[in-house]
Amino acid sequence: MILLTGATGNVGSALLPRLTMAGHRVRCLVRHPRRLGPERVRVQIALGDLANPSSFRNALRGVSTVIHLAASVRDQERASIEEVNGVATMRLVRAAERAGVERFVYFSAIGASLHAPARFFRAKALAEQAVRESSIESIVFAPSIVYALGDAWIALLERLSLLPLMPVAGRGRARFQPIWAGDVADCVIAALDGRAAGAERLELAGPETLSYDDIVRTVLRARRRRRRLLHLPPRVVKAALDTVERFAGPTAFATWDEAELLEIPMVSERGTADAELLGVRPLPMLQVLAGG
Ligand SMILES: NC(=O)c1ccc[n+]([C@@H]2O[C@H](COP(=O)([O-])OP(=O)(O)OC[C@H]3O[C@@H](n4cnc5c(N)ncnc54)[C@H](OP(=O)(O)O)[C@@H]3O)[C@@H](O)[C@H]2O)c1
Repeated sequence: MILLTGATGNVGSALLPRLTMAGHRVRCLVRHPRRLGPERVRVQIALGDLANPSSFRNALRGVSTVIHLAASVRDQERASIEEVNGVATMRLVRAAERAGVERFVYFSAIGASLHAPARFFRAKALAEQAVRESSIESIVFAPSIVYALGDAWIALLERLSLLPLMPVAGRGRARFQPIWAGDVADCVIAALDGRAAGAERLELAGPETLSYDDIVRTVLRARRRRRRLLHLPPRVVKAALDTVERFAGPTAFATWDEAELLEIPMVSERGTADAELLGVRPLPMLQVLAGG
């Protein structure tokens, strides 16, 4: 039995059908089972929340592999970025050790470091350390930016592209290697099949190295819109988004913690080598976005 967290997210919703199609028995730890869509009838459901570690024990019963995707780039009502990404992962790993889990697959991020400027990356680094130090065999995936057609980030860029000028938080110069969620999911399936036996940390990057401005231009091209980019100074963006978050709370359309990440590069020196080791050739971003 596989325990999958984050099954309703970008990577999770691409991975779950692949797991069930491959015949794996899957239990999903979820807050909102309806968000699983049609897949919910093919899996066991464990109602749970990363902020509530007492939900882990039942979820882990009879589980041999944990795939831990659930994460958050913004503070939640019941837990901060550090708690959701760092502390909760540490607790889940400990609970998995106690439950006799044999394999723990964890999603960190390229750029995760205790010295990173953003809280999210520092929390991911702590979590990654806990996973690697545990007694359970582990595989850590560290992706660059992950996207999917219609995901919240791409949808926000598409909405902003309706404005006469396309606003971009910060200078737009940080570089990324965007990778499609479908390719990421294929990498996980291949790793579960033992395609990268012995590899402990795999960096998942798409085939292009793009600045954030290039990514925005790719979205504009995919939607056949021509817009000039309007770069907004970080302090202006921070003041605006902090105000939005104060009023809208967790439903804010964007937060400063998220905007800040767009100024921090996520580039793997290995490029697509790790994905290719797993037999996956990641698609270019325009091809995915224009296809939808
Ligand atoms: N997307 C990227 O650019 C990127 C880059 C580097 C690394 N990663 C990592 O890759 C993994 C997958 O990313 P993703 O893009 O698929 O993430 P995502 O789309 O943001 O999905 C996050 C998932 O976590 C769940 N979740 C959030 N808070 C939770 C909580 N308190 N309790 C239980 N579940 C909770 C969400 O469930 P709900 O439906 O309940 O909200 C959702 O299923 C994550 O670990 C992420 O940090 C992503």
